[in-house]
Amino acid sequence: MGLSKARAHTNIALIKYWGKANQKLILPATSSISMTLAAFYTDTQVEFDDSLAADSFTLDGELQSAKAAARVSAFVDLVRERAGMHTFAHIASVNHVPTAAGLASSASAFAALAVAASDAAGLKLTPTELSRLARRGSGSASRSIFGDMVIWHRGTDDKSSYAEPLAMNPQLDLRMIAVVVDDMPKSIGSRVGMQRTVATSPYFPAWVTANEAAAREMQTALTAGDMPTVGALTERSAMMMHASTMAANPPFTYLQPVSLALFNFAAELRATGLQVYATADAGPNVKLLTTAQDAAAVLQQVQAKFNVKAVMSGPGPAARIID
Ligand code: DP6
Repeated sequence: MGLSKARAHTNIALIKYWGKANQKLILPATSSISMTLAAFYTDTQVEFDDSLAADSFTLDGELQSAKAAARVSAFVDLVRERAGMHTFAHIASVNHVPTAAGLASSASAFAALAVAASDAAGLKLTPTELSRLARRGSGSASRSIFGDMVIWHRGTDDKSSYAEPLAMNPQLDLRMIAVVVDDMPKSIGSRVGMQRTVATSPYFPAWVTANEAAAREMQTALTAGDMPTVGALTERSAMMMHASTMAANPPFTYLQPVSLALFNFAAELRATGLQVYATADAGPNVKLLTTAQDAAAVLQQVQAKFNVKAVMSGPGPAARIID
């Protein structure tokens, strides 16, 4: 028992997770597939300390309110339960995400916390166990335990819902370009947004069926190294997810006019021979999936046409203990 520090990278889903089958355990309605990104990560240090009367949580050096720390504490409770301990902890996180890149995510946060807290508590968890644990903090965090391409199997219970690395054709040398169209906090968080979609969108059952099929097709395309199919499935999963929110009651969308303009621009660039496909999560920022070969040209074209900040990343490594 003591002090441990971990690093976990963010991930962007090509096949989206949207909607839970079980809110308490965070079991997703569909499987999802993501790419872990080298450029963006969270470092988290956990130190259990017998002299503490409560957990303390700092983010980027600033002490967070008790309310903000509650989700972190609830997560550390899972680790304490498992280790049979009652000691509180100092938790210090630093996000290494380019300022206002719109990528600060719960995925890297809870993956780093899972690795650091379990290690500091003396638990020796396997990567699969870490993925299941991280999932309890935030669904997408289950995927950030692993590097490169990752699949989160939806499963049917706590044991069967975990992520694992996904083999892919080495010829696919992928890049992701995060295009920042807006760095304001989102008005409807993903947790609330997906709940409303599950509860009220008549498109939700169709989303589950179609996205699960897309996850299977994506695995085949990744193995084959079939970039046009990987890209087409990526765009379709995003559009199906956003369609499901537009059909919720009351309806809502995360996409802004400029987000859609970027989807259209990706299609225009494809017509000129570049491999580039768009995706978007619970916010207006767009991420462009492209290849190592085309990334520089895509970045340059996007910046020439839109007055936006864009940051490129390659695939990143698995979550790990650092000094
Ligand atoms: C749109 O993992 O943040 O980014 O499980 O409620 O914490 P919770 O949700 P979260 O949702 C991510 C949704 C998404 C798509 C994805 O990453 O697959």
